[in-house]
This record gives sequence, structure tokens and C-alpha cells, in this order.
Amino acid sequence: MKPVRKAVFPVAGLGTRFLPATKAMAKEMLTVVDKPLIQYAVEEAKEAGIEQMIFVTGRGKGALEDHFDISFELEATMRARGKSLQPLESTRFTPGAIVSVRQQEPLGLGHAVWCAREIVGDEPFAVLLPDDLMYGKPGCLRQMVDAYQKVGGNIICVEEVAREKTSSYGIITPGRSEGRLTEVTGLVEKPKPEEAPSTLGVIGRYILQPEIMRVLDNPRKGAGGEIQLTDAMAEVIGQQPFHGVTVDAVRYDCGDKAGFITANLALALDRDDVAPAVRAFIADLR
Ligand code: UTP
Repeated sequence: MKPVRKAVFPVAGLGTRFLPATKAMAKEMLTVVDKPLIQYAVEEAKEAGIEQMIFVTGRGKGALEDHFDISFELEATMRARGKSLQPLESTRFTPGAIVSVRQQEPLGLGHAVWCAREIVGDEPFAVLLPDDLMYGKPGCLRQMVDAYQKVGGNIICVEEVAREKTSSYGIITPGRSEGRLTEVTGLVEKPKPEEAPSTLGVIGRYILQPEIMRVLDNPRKGAGGEIQLTDAMAEVIGQQPFHGVTVDAVRYDCGDKAGFITANLALALDRDDVAPAVRAFIADLR
């Protein structure tokens, strides 16, 4: 079984639900406490043993690359003023560990993943959607890699969703279950509640085999007129092992305003440096 060494971060979406904040700034640069969403996802991937991060970006997303570059002026000024560079340490990567490719048109998540095919090559890879902030120890992708080492094939992260929300998710048809693993026998993108085969929704973490890129070579438009990753995954079911895994982590949907604010509150309350002031403010709320 080949190890999972590469991860694709599709970050070329338009982020329309967050306008006007995302007019000139990437959604993935939105900050939870003191780190942008992209950094939470990159740190999660690093913890899971990922060696190369592949950003699939679009126009106006240059800040994502700059964030993981050395800011020479900033560092020189901080050094001259005797300030610690420690807050910048987690943004440092060796050259080549973070690479990016452009998705020239936002044609859908499946298309975004396909844009990374030459860099991914012939090996399994992870996909992380940074707007799903997964908060857990060990991290979500680490837990998924552990599951992958047992069963191989394709692994997607699944979570129970409310039946009235199925039309916001990819939904699996579940097969046999064992512990946290459930065999996936079918997948459908954004089904109506009355048509959903279950209430197990796919969330933004995947471990996929490279053959999915061959399916995406000949894409078809799916839900919303977009090239959907879910449709491509559905085609490899039956040809390769395919499992859903529920992880021990909390998901904050930061693509959504309420989810983003909840994430800020929850993570702030988990931080010794900011929790006391935030807790005091909450206690005062009527
Ligand atoms: P979303 O469905 O959240 O779309 O994409 P979006 O454009 O980012 O946001 P809204 O709905 O307009 O507010 C899920 C993930 O897929 C990426 C997004 O960047 C996000 O990480 N994506 C989506 C692409 O990279 N390219 C696409 O063509 C579509």
C-alpha cells in the first residue's frame, strides 16, 4: 500500500456566501482567532505525514502563497526590534513543500482536484477543504490515514447530518459498518431529503486513489452545473475499496457565517491567552 504523501487544497472557489469580505481576499485567509483557515488545514495535513501541499488557486488568491513564504521585510524589522519570530515559525516550509496550480475557471470541486493531476502523479492523495475546520486530537486527517493503513483504497470523512440538510452535502449509501468505518456502496451529490439514501454526509476530507483523475479526464456536469468530485468518486465505487470514516473531531463549517463565528468562539475559549476575556464578555451577555 502506497503511503499518502501529497495533499490537494482546492482553494479556487469564489466564496460568495462571505461577500463582501471575500471580494478582494481569499475565503481561506479568513482568520479564526489568529490563524487563517488555510493554516489550520495545512497543519492538520503536516501532522498526518503529508510531505507536499498542493494549492489549487485562482485569481486574487496570491495571499495564500505569500502566507507560507518568507516575509523578508517583516522578519528583518522584527529582528531589529528584538521581537520573537516564533509566531511565524508555523508558516515556514522548505521550498517545494508547498506548490500551487491555477484553476483558471471555477468549474467545480471535481475540476479543481483534476487541476492537480500532474503534481499528484500516480499515488494516493488527500484532499482537504479548508473551510471545514476540523478540531480534534489527533487531527482528522491523521485519524483517516490510520484508517487507510488498515483498509486502503478510498476513504472519505462522513458525519451524520440533519435530514433537511442533505441537499447541502454529498450523501453516501452505506454498506457494512465496523467501528468507525462504513463501506460506501453509493454516493449522490446534494439529494433532496426525501431522496437521500442516508443521512451520512461527506465532509471536506478525502483520501483518494490516483485513478479518480482518469475519471475526471472526461468530466460531466453534475449538481449546480458544476463538475462534482462526488460524481467522480461514485464511478470508482465497486472497482476499489471505498469507505466512509467518522472521526473523533468537531467540524466547524467556516464557509458559513454562523459556523465561522462559532469556530472563533469555540477556539478562543480553548486558548489560555484569550479565553478569560472572551468568557467574561459572554458572562455579561444578556
Ligand atoms: P464551496 O461550495 O464552499 O464554494 O466550495 P465556494 O465558491 O468556495 O463558496 P460559496 O459557496 O460561493 O460561498 C468548496 C471548496 O471547493 C473549492 C472552494 O475553494 C472550497 O474550498 N472550489 C470550489 C474550488 O477550488 N473550485 C471550484 O470551482 C469550486
